[in-house]
Amino acid sequence: MAESLPWPGRMGQSRHLHIFDAAPRAELREVTAPQTAPSPDVARPRPQAATLELRSATKRYPGQDEAAVDGLSLTVPAGEICVLVGPSGCGKTTAMRMVNRMIEITEGDILLDDRSVRDRAPAELRREIGYAIQQIGLFPHLTVAANVAVVPRLLGWDRDRIDARVRELLQLVSLDEGTGERYPAQLSGGQRQRVGVARALAADPPLMLMDEPFGAIDPINRERLQNEFLRLQAEIRKTIVFVTHDIDEAIKMGDKIAILQEGGILAQFASPAELLMYPASPFVEDFVGSDRALKRLALQRVRDIDLWKAAVVRAGEPVADVRKKLEDADLDIPLLVDDHGRPKGWLSERGMTGERVREELRSPADPIVELDDILRDALSDLLGSDTRYGPVVDADGRVAGVLSMEALSHALSVPAEHIPTPSELAAATDGDE
Ligand SMILES: Nc1ncnc2c1ncn2[C@@H]1O[C@H](COP(=O)(O)OP(=O)(O)O)[C@@H](O)[C@H]1O
Ligand SMILES: [Mg+2]
Repeated sequence: MAESLPWPGRMGQSRHLHIFDAAPRAELREVTAPQTAPSPDVARPRPQAATLELRSATKRYPGQDEAAVDGLSLTVPAGEICVLVGPSGCGKTTAMRMVNRMIEITEGDILLDDRSVRDRAPAELRREIGYAIQQIGLFPHLTVAANVAVVPRLLGWDRDRIDARVRELLQLVSLDEGTGERYPAQLSGGQRQRVGVARALAADPPLMLMDEPFGAIDPINRERLQNEFLRLQAEIRKTIVFVTHDIDEAIKMGDKIAILQEGGILAQFASPAELLMYPASPFVEDFVGSDRALKRLALQRVRDIDLWKAAVVRAGEPVADVRKKLEDADLDIPLLVDDHGRPKGWLSERGMTGERVREELRSPADPIVELDDILRDALSDLLGSDTRYGPVVDADGRVAGVLSMEALSHALSVPAEHIPTPSELAAATDGDE
């Protein structure tokens, strides 16, 4: 079985330098900027999304000295998720509700595609803006289908169009078609939340407001809903304002994050990576937490970083060839693979004593890391194994490189602007999980 460790590690300083001096990486850009090609989507209808702009939006509740939201200015480009995050009472819900005029603006303005919401009739505005909240607010006496159909019905759609839309939406949020006939009380919390999202999307709104939408869901289902929602968003590309008090949820969901502090004051407005790397104030630093370097690792995938190159060999291969491959590799131990290129383990010296490679392993290929794994999970895998080197495999299980602690630590020095936002991450790897 396995020979004893420790591992000699990477060979030769020069390769090290090659990795650590790598210029700002072209391959990263591919993932970070899923550049919208100039025109292939002319034929397809454009996903409908609006630009949202808050201009010194301020709310003072009657009889209160301090503003609940104080001169809040920010712009959310069409198709992006902006997360409002901050401690309880900092004005998140107030800021969000001023957008659809459930709460009147005291001073300043809010524009939807350059048009002030103050010039719009509140009822019309609310039909145009999707709204999903924690308590979901489904009508208990209506079926799921009827709940989803509320706004289309208000808009006077005909029956066939409504039925088709309801079917499409239930599918979109991963609910069985049969769910439409059931009542909210017959569903789990996670299912009800999906219905809430479907209902908010019913009339294909250009903007969605979501106030702690997954706040009442248990952690496992919450994570599932978050992932589902990010994948959904990669498809529908709505403009979304998402409120949460949970910084981890903000980092996971936001293209941009607005951190509010007590008194409705904007403490920082930045991408998750920027926020974690350059917190603008002690308040932000404290709010994002002392583990912010680890949190950054959740924003990158294994495929985003420079992997080490292993000498990949098969049983029966001439040992002379293996020695040649080793000269070109970052590790001085060959990685034995099967006929399909899938890792079997690290070859021992004994396996190379004859003319041809024999299947003698010093240790198994463990942990095996996937290209789509998030770096934080990959780090955890590495820490949990003896070898500290993880063969990285592609979707077919073939070796694509090796992940080392050094490669991971290098990833922490990548500039924030090269790190993809959560929805870019989701879009870059649709269909995994
Ligand atoms: N209808 C209201 N009348 C008076 N004060 C309110 C009202 N709603 C909220 N507030 C106050 O405004 C501040 C911000 O509240 P809110 O927007 O609900 O914060 P968050 O959603 O961040 O918890 C709090 O101090 C809250 O007590
Ligand atoms: Mg709130």
